[in-house]
Amino acid sequence: EDTSLPEAIKIKLDDTDSAKIKLGNGSDVKGTRVRVFGRVHRERRQKERMFITLRDGYGFMQVILSGPLAKTYDALTLTRETSMEILGQLMQVPEGAHAPNGRELHADYFKIHAGWKAAGGEDAITNRVSKDTEKATLLDLRHLTLRGETASKIMIVRDAVEFAFNTVYKELRMRKVSPPALVQTQVEGGSTLFKLGYYHEEAYLTQSSQLYLETCLPSMGDVYCIEKSFRAEKSLTRRHLAEYSHVEAELDFITFNDLLDHLEHVMCRVLEVTMADPTIKQYITELNPEFKMPERPFMRMKYQDAIDWLVEHEILNDEEEGKPPRPHKFGDDIAEAAERKMTDIINRPIFLTHFPAAIKSFYMMKDKDDPRVTESVDCLMPGVGEIVGGSMRIFDYEELMAAYAREDIEPGPYYWYTDQRKYGSSPHGGYGLGLERFLAWLCDQHTVRDCCLYPRYFGRCKP
Ligand code: 4AD
Repeated sequence: EDTSLPEAIKIKLDDTDSAKIKLGNGSDVKGTRVRVFGRVHRERRQKERMFITLRDGYGFMQVILSGPLAKTYDALTLTRETSMEILGQLMQVPEGAHAPNGRELHADYFKIHAGWKAAGGEDAITNRVSKDTEKATLLDLRHLTLRGETASKIMIVRDAVEFAFNTVYKELRMRKVSPPALVQTQVEGGSTLFKLGYYHEEAYLTQSSQLYLETCLPSMGDVYCIEKSFRAEKSLTRRHLAEYSHVEAELDFITFNDLLDHLEHVMCRVLEVTMADPTIKQYITELNPEFKMPERPFMRMKYQDAIDWLVEHEILNDEEEGKPPRPHKFGDDIAEAAERKMTDIINRPIFLTHFPAAIKSFYMMKDKDDPRVTESVDCLMPGVGEIVGGSMRIFDYEELMAAYAREDIEPGPYYWYTDQRKYGSSPHGGYGLGLERFLAWLCDQHTVRDCCLYPRYFGRCKP
């Protein structure tokens, strides 16, 4: 290292702060001398020079090693993913050339510290993950595929979206709580419960934090949480995970219409806040070039009208085992495929409301004008289908007891939930949004599996 050179300032690869960094132009303007750290994303040799694309999780930088630097042993044996410390002058790229942020680092010194070298030869990363690698192997190597551009962009967008939910809920003066994951009650039916031994008792992994959120209303006002939910889904679909991130909220003293308005506001405002960050906006545009902000108001469609729509469009119910496909009728649980066909044809967000009580969860409030149906809503998005499920909750004690009985639920373990109806009940409602499904829609991903860090689903629990 030439110690007579100006001191190098440490920057991240995406740092473009003009108060701190000047770009040299090769003649009269000298570039700022910087010190960067990162990994070799790509490298190529051109005659006596070596071009490296360095990556640090914030951005990419083009680095040029030339002269003696390009002839060192470390440069000649450089492997992809090797970590490097590089010092040099930041210069504008020559006219007609392209590089991230229009600049390149002309290195005057670099160091690969002990242990920083990435494996080469047989074991090189490019031999382990490539375009031709089998899907299952890629999933086993998720820790390496996460270094790829698409996977890392989705994870960075995910971080921004989660932060935006927090921001928007704070704008609405909602309070964040953290309900337990280990529970002894079910929320969404026994068939998807993960059971486990809990000391000398039986417990489950939570399917939803909803019931716990409801207990916070009397003393904390409107609340939300972003926690894991678990579902022992036994089918392999592109939108079902065994462990997913669940954005859930519960609002006090509201009507069903208030709930729908709130939900529409939150979803649109989250998109606005997310898109306000130029890097995130760019990532979303690269992942999903067709992305358009959803039009407001969202279409509102009653379940009965959806059934009529499916009949009219001759989309059949083919979900009954051993029976031929037939037209949909009131009471059918609209299956994933039919729901997606409808959403894709309508091609805009839909609030599907007023589902029959018989196909929905025990806690849902019945519609006063038509007790066959509930004040419930699913939000459907083109390409993905359902991304939100919500409803008004039964708040009358007797009605809740009848609902337990109807669903064959033993009320004992629910004493704490039932107590809410004894000590100052209120009209309230809420919803749960699947974060991975929201991301699959926003980032135009075929499956929710690519929208979480380490997906868990039927048959996969590693890495
Ligand atoms: O419709 P669900 O089952 O509703 C509830 O759990 C309510 N208790 C939530 C509430 O009102 N607080 O699930 C809500 C959302 C779905 O719309 C979907 O986006 C997501 O959770 N979800 C899943 N996401 C990934 N994998 C799974 N197996 C999912 N199951 C539900």
